[in-house]
Amino acid sequence: MLDQSNILIDVHVHTDPDRVKQEIRNGLLSSPKKLPTKYFYDDRGSALFEQICELPEYYPARTEFQLLKNTADDVVAQTGADTLVELGSGAATKTRVLFDAMSRAKQLRLYVPFDVSEGIVRRVAQELVEEYQGLQVHGIVGDFLAHLEHIPEGGKRLVAFLGGTIGNLGPEEALAFLSSIYEEMGHGDFFLLGVQLTTDVNRLEAAYNDSAGITETFNKNILSVLQSVIGAEFDLDAFEHIARFNHEQHRIEIYLRSRRDQAIPIPELDLHLRLHEGEEILTEISTKYTRPQVETLLTGAGFSPVEWYTDPDHLHGLALAKKR
Ligand SMILES: C[S@@+](CC[C@H](N)C(=O)[O-])C[C@H]1O[C@@H](n2cnc3c(N)ncnc32)[C@H](O)[C@@H]1O
Repeated sequence: MLDQSNILIDVHVHTDPDRVKQEIRNGLLSSPKKLPTKYFYDDRGSALFEQICELPEYYPARTEFQLLKNTADDVVAQTGADTLVELGSGAATKTRVLFDAMSRAKQLRLYVPFDVSEGIVRRVAQELVEEYQGLQVHGIVGDFLAHLEHIPEGGKRLVAFLGGTIGNLGPEEALAFLSSIYEEMGHGDFFLLGVQLTTDVNRLEAAYNDSAGITETFNKNILSVLQSVIGAEFDLDAFEHIARFNHEQHRIEIYLRSRRDQAIPIPELDLHLRLHEGEEILTEISTKYTRPQVETLLTGAGFSPVEWYTDPDHLHGLALAKKR
């Protein structure tokens, strides 16, 4: 039950330390070595991502913001939603555009921010109940790949997955994830998916290699998070930030490249991690889509596409879909 503050927060992370250790161990033992992207996002990582969204090179955030501004009233009218569930909600900066439209339509009742980063879910919940009178917030601190069943039922729901975060998943994982969202939704619920579109490679690579070095700090934050999660002591200066476009897979790939041969004991994982000079650990993929690819993905997961919105330069897409 929501208390007098109109806020309820359920926490589902930290409940299975063995699973956490297993997934990090599996990633470090795979070839190439990789780490789950969600480990960027402790409180510091979430704050760094907010800074990235303000960078001149990082066009996706402001493009999606503007696109939402132009389309939010239409989305709200088409969906009739009074409940907004947002996966990977982060700072909910752009979400406020949807809230404003829901408020104008006198339809704003409940917000369900769902994010792996506990600090930001709590902060956003507090901010939003203060900003939007009468709004109830039921936050879920969880892994959207594991804890979707904890999304509360009821209301006319719009489930939003913005920021191009779908691009962090490989093709099979993305389809499986959208299918699991579909399963959790009720008939008549709508889904709003924000995707980054394929565009000029120079522009794409610049967005992940900003001149202020914030993306590099964000990338290295994953090593600091691992320090607190599994006690692994990394020398951050021994790694270099790499972001490049993979033409075959239509995605930016972000790596930490070892500057030297190194061996890092990780007793909690029963692992002695060895990296040779130049070896790369994959920390994030950011897949860029075309409209037909997005529609194939949505219909493959069961959804009926309803509307497609894009900006004049076709940098970003918002796909509105419905559970059949
Ligand atoms: C690229 S940011 C996008 C944030 C926000 N939606 C926006 O558009 O600015 C990805 C967000 O998803 C969250 N996230 C990443 N992986 C997650 C996971 N497996 N489960 C839940 N949240 C996750 C991160 O904490 C972060 O807030």
